Amino acid sequence: MDAQTDGGSHPGRPLKILAFVGSPRNEQSWTWQIMTRIEAQMQALQPTEVEYVFLQKVGVPFCDGCLSCVNVGESSCPEYATIGPIAAKIDEADGLILGAPVHTFAVTGLMKNFVEYFMYKRNRPSFFGKKAVVTATASGGGHTQVLDFLEGTATAWGCDVVTRLGISSSQMNKPQYVEKVDACVREVAATFVGEINKGELGSPKFAALMNFRAMQNMARRQPDSVNQHFWADRGWFDKEYYTDVPINPWARMMAGYIARKMRRSIRKGNAKPFR
Ligand SMILES: Cc1cc2nc3c(=O)[nH]c(=O)nc-3n(C[C@H](O)[C@H](O)[C@H](O)COP(=O)(O)O)c2cc1C
Repeated sequence: MDAQTDGGSHPGRPLKILAFVGSPRNEQSWTWQIMTRIEAQMQALQPTEVEYVFLQKVGVPFCDGCLSCVNVGESSCPEYATIGPIAAKIDEADGLILGAPVHTFAVTGLMKNFVEYFMYKRNRPSFFGKKAVVTATASGGGHTQVLDFLEGTATAWGCDVVTRLGISSSQMNKPQYVEKVDACVREVAATFVGEINKGELGSPKFAALMNFRAMQNMARRQPDSVNQHFWADRGWFDKEYYTDVPINPWARMMAGYIARKMRRSIRKGNAKPFR
């Protein structure tokens, strides 16, 4: 499905959530445990079905970097037999949870590699109207890097990231910390369910506006490509964002100004190596 939004279209059935577990520890992981706590709190509010996708079990090899998903079309990916059905499941879902532990102050290689297979969604986003929650666990620090990466990824695919949650697993043996986690989890679940039910498209942050402009510039420079056709078909070359949502006027003005400067610089061949 490539709709502008299918948010709110779930009368008479449970909410459908797809949760991507980016820890190699699968059902032993804190990542999964936090997701199941979110699921339980969602269930307390409204019938909810969560399907867990354990990326370690998905088992795709390292992305070979052929870029055929971007340049030829997603179905040309050597792993499309695995990735295609997962993309179809995202199309069917009301919401996504992306979760990963911090490994050496970054997202796990497992999650990063999985996301590589969706590179085409950055060029040709379509998951508009899907709400997303991102979550990270670490024993000490690095949550922000991982949450930023997961939020940026889901946003670039077209989702609205409605909230984020970082947990310190080394503190989970302390009852007072667990109490605080439970309170946060309740808030996350309430926000997630509430935003899905509202069914409105979210207003983009500045970073998302800039990402839109960068992708717009890129598609303009790719004559007769899959990306250019996709953008032209949706009238996105004349737009300031993918969807017709209200945009903060200052953010819109700044993004437009920077995008015009970027285009001029690219046309003049002004790009420089940098350190
Ligand atoms: C290879 C590796 C690297 C790690 N790097 C960090 C780190 O940079 N910062 C940190 O606070 N914890 C780090 N940890 C600890 C994990 O983030 C922590 O145990 C986390 O809760 C594990 O989540 P999981 O149970 O979902 O796999 C690392 C663990 C591993 C295995």
